[in-house]
Amino acid sequence: MIVNPLSSQYLGFSIASPIVVAACPLSAKLENIEAMQEAGAGAVVLFSLFEESRINNGEPDAQFRVSSDDYLRLVEQASNLNIPIIASLNGTNLDHLSQMTMAVVEAGAHAVEYNPYHLPINLMRSGREVEDELVELATEMRAICQRPMAMKLMPTLSSPGYLAMVLDATGIDGLVMFNRLYLPQVDTESMVLSRHVHLSRKEDSAWGIHWASLLHGKMQGSIIGNSGVEHAEQALQYLLSGAEAVQVASSLIRNGIDYIGTLNRGLRDWMEHHECADISSIIGLLSEQRQADSASQDRISYMKSLHNFQSPHFK
Ligand SMILES: Cc1cc2nc3c(=O)[nH]c(=O)nc-3n(C[C@H](O)[C@H](O)[C@H](O)COP(=O)(O)O)c2cc1C
Repeated sequence: MIVNPLSSQYLGFSIASPIVVAACPLSAKLENIEAMQEAGAGAVVLFSLFEESRINNGEPDAQFRVSSDDYLRLVEQASNLNIPIIASLNGTNLDHLSQMTMAVVEAGAHAVEYNPYHLPINLMRSGREVEDELVELATEMRAICQRPMAMKLMPTLSSPGYLAMVLDATGIDGLVMFNRLYLPQVDTESMVLSRHVHLSRKEDSAWGIHWASLLHGKMQGSIIGNSGVEHAEQALQYLLSGAEAVQVASSLIRNGIDYIGTLNRGLRDWMEHHECADISSIIGLLSEQRQADSASQDRISYMKSLHNFQSPHFK
């Protein structure tokens, strides 16, 4: 029997690789999802169904790429493939979310990824209020959703570790760490604010890797790395830190769906070189080093790295 060294677990599913396609427009076509499976993806998170498009009630809307009916049709078709298909639901209104969850589950989604995408910009709301609302949403969604469910978190949290532990206690199956911020930019020529999606680079993985290693072994659910997997190296960094799988969007948009194969080859080559028989044996291998770094040691290494920084302009 040939054993696949990349086989892993994702929200309770056995998957062929820890490389999972993140929610992005590449999954808008069934043939692309087939190509993702062919290229060796472990699972596919579909692009989001937004509650705003749900309100539109089946009517296609140019703003939201597809109508909710089209989305459900895609879920139905994709769920017949051989990899887990995860519907992504985006919003904060529980009535809409409840209907959307039931609809995607009925259409055959194997799991749900819930992305509240809620940026705290209200000057009168405290961090506690914002985070309490996230916990309430997670609790309600967990009760509604009859399938495994992950929640995608923003990086803008005052205490990500504490919140992760409280969310984990609601019984959700995984936390996707972290979503990317797409803030409006000031265009100095047109003098208007514009919002562009920038594809990530490997530097964008640092925050998620940091928290994966601090949370490894502390949660019941899985940690799923998200952001900045540009090469296999970043996927390995997430896994060694404690993520059970990593999601990838930008690299696939930049290099094409076949790049999943390149990432898998990179993982396999590294494992061969380090004589690792299976992915599960490397998950969290380096997390203890970071956990041992107490807050005071962290300040010392922070000061050292600033003091040791070299530049030809420093005389
Ligand atoms: C063009 C584009 C569209 C995206 N659409 C969604 C979406 O519909 N829902 C969602 O939760 N995330 C969406 N994302 C965010 C990605 O799922 C992912 O969290 C983010 O890009 C970080 O991963 P990366 O560094 O591999 O790109 C989108 C990202 C891109 C680049």
